[in-house]
Amino acid sequence: MADAKTAFVTGWPVKHSRSPLIHRYWLKKYDLAGDYVKHPCAAEEFSTFLTSLADNGYVGGNITVPHKETAFELVERTDAVADALGAVNTVWIKDNILHGTNTDEYGFLANLDDRCPGWDNPDRLLRGALVIGAGGASRAIVHALITRKFSRVTLVNRTRQKAQTLAEFFGPACHAAGLDWLDNPDTDPAIIINTTSLGMNDGKSPAGLREFSKDTIVSDIVYTPLQTPLLLQAAKLGMVPVDGLGMLLHQAVLGFEKWFGVRPQVDEDLRALILRDLGEAQ
Ligand code: ATR
Repeated sequence: MADAKTAFVTGWPVKHSRSPLIHRYWLKKYDLAGDYVKHPCAAEEFSTFLTSLADNGYVGGNITVPHKETAFELVERTDAVADALGAVNTVWIKDNILHGTNTDEYGFLANLDDRCPGWDNPDRLLRGALVIGAGGASRAIVHALITRKFSRVTLVNRTRQKAQTLAEFFGPACHAAGLDWLDNPDTDPAIIINTTSLGMNDGKSPAGLREFSKDTIVSDIVYTPLQTPLLLQAAKLGMVPVDGLGMLLHQAVLGFEKWFGVRPQVDEDLRALILRDLGEAQ
């Protein structure tokens, strides 16, 4: 079909990516001509690939590990979110210009807005937030929390210096600590987010949750398994667990809209489709 558009996900490796399932679901749902494919790309080929997308017949795509920072350097136009994070996970061509943004922050916020309305009400903003981990995912989430005006974001990490560097980048609302902070917390955060890979098929939890209030939202970016040890612990303590699958689904919305011209809905059928693929169907 002459007007069929194709988008991609690239990374090294990309074979486990669920993005084709998500975007093909929406293409079908909205009856749009087009496709979304995996395009593995090694580091030495990435710059040539990204700067000649149209030659490969692409209208844009997603960038994943390890290329997000290189993509930030290569795209011709970035927006404020990409600039704040120094990483690009979504690109599109408009008027022959290669644009880039980062949709992780949107995915994180939209998922909480969807599943926990009021999660950032004024009382909760005053209680602050706790973020575990200080890598790339942490940076997007801290930025999201500060954008929503959480009064204090405590950033704990195994390597305290990395937390310190990130906290300094974000300014006075952000405080760094080592993992031992969790044994004797000096705040009662309204939300706790794990941004490390702990819990990903390893049975490990990054934190004990006994010290925190029952209405604390506990969220994990890990979604394999869907119920991580941290989320199971939160549920057992009567807290509010929010799994990582929603963020994955919501972060895909903005790219789809750029490439195919329709803002798609994250619905329960899509969630069920990905859960089946993850082997998590109930
Ligand atoms: P990403 O970009 O996906 O966030 P990353 O930059 O590798 O990934 O960051 C991984 C985060 O998980 C880091 O905060 C890391 O802690 P360190 O800075 O001390 O390395 C954290 N992490 C990974 N494995 C961990 C473990 N076994 N225990 C505690 N923290 C861990």
